[in-house]
Amino acid sequence: MEFETERLVLRPWKATDAEDCFRYAKDPRVGPAAGWPPHTSVEDSRRIIETILSAPETYAIVWKESCLPVGSIGLKSGKSSHLAERENECELGFWLGVPYWGRGIMPEAIRAMLLHAFSDLGANRIWCGHYEGNIQSRRVQEKCGFRHRRTEETVPVPQLHEMRRGHVFCLEREDWQTAETAMPQLFLRYGSLRETPTIKVAAAAWFHAKWGVPEAAYLDCMDAYLAGRTEYGWYLCLDGDRIVGGLGVIENDFHERKDLTPNICAVYVEESHRRRGIAGRLLAMAVEDLRSKGISPVYLLTDHTGFYERYGWEFLCLVRGEGEKKPSRMYIHR
Ligand SMILES: CC(C)(COP(=O)(O)OP(=O)(O)OC[C@H]1O[C@@H](n2cnc3c(N)ncnc32)[C@H](O)[C@@H]1OP(=O)(O)O)[C@@H](O)C(=O)NCCC(=O)NCCS
Repeated sequence: MEFETERLVLRPWKATDAEDCFRYAKDPRVGPAAGWPPHTSVEDSRRIIETILSAPETYAIVWKESCLPVGSIGLKSGKSSHLAERENECELGFWLGVPYWGRGIMPEAIRAMLLHAFSDLGANRIWCGHYEGNIQSRRVQEKCGFRHRRTEETVPVPQLHEMRRGHVFCLEREDWQTAETAMPQLFLRYGSLRETPTIKVAAAAWFHAKWGVPEAAYLDCMDAYLAGRTEYGWYLCLDGDRIVGGLGVIENDFHERKDLTPNICAVYVEESHRRRGIAGRLLAMAVEDLRSKGISPVYLLTDHTGFYERYGWEFLCLVRGEGEKKPSRMYIHR
């Protein structure tokens, strides 16, 4: 999934982030405070991105203004966590590049992660630890509603071959729900329907309301995708629990060129949420997801001129839609 807050986008790390990751992770004030050694080269950062930072629920914190990663945040559960004791518990970890400290950036990222953990992942309790002396991390945890649970006199720090005093904090679902800070001011969640399958019926109703195609038609496509019978998926943007943007992938968007397939269809963003790049992010997600499954290029039929170009689409040719007198514009994403 991907998340957007006022100043940040949280999205999975990519190998191409290595240089930006190294810029901040080489600083001895960052890693050692969290228990890991500073990165030693861009190559080292690339290796870490491809291993540790590729773990599930690990996200690059991207500064929206520059579109570049400035830190990392992640949730661990099961065996990969030292603190989570049960299945519905997670452990939160994070770091931020020094030039970005002291601007409330980590609390903003954490609030998004907490909402994701409690609402999407079904967590009931989130753990977070910090070592003695890490006052910044302690403050961040306090500001986000975590409470001190216990102090451990000697905690091994395996990556640095030393022992430290450690403080364990915890946030219960009930405390989070009543905390004033639970909801970030702007919080958008982007994901495929496979990541948020419980909204299938609401999603079909939403697409029907926007495009007039029967709900049953959307439900059929969505069921096939959720059951793994097709990789042609559905992608949504949620503001809280409200669907504010979406699109789908189908074989043919009701036109005469059956050879130009698959097609992105039903691209729609609520008027209240336009001009924020939501459509672009959804299009990129769908294209990337299809590419990762070996499906490329992708096509899209539209009457817009000059919009899809912004997001890397090229005009291909004019194509007549079923029952249309005037041809529409066929775009391709290679
Ligand atoms: C912990 C960390 C993520 C905080 O992120 P942040 O976005 O700066 O968080 P905040 O802006 O809310 O600042 C938190 C506290 O840091 C302190 N702080 C702020 N600016 C600072 C600066 N330039 N230098 C040192 N400390 C600073 C303040 O005490 C602040 O608390 P306050 O708001 O009550 O005054 C960041 O310091 C970091 O990456 N540290 C190294 C890695 C790490 O320790 N990770 C956590 C492991 S448990």
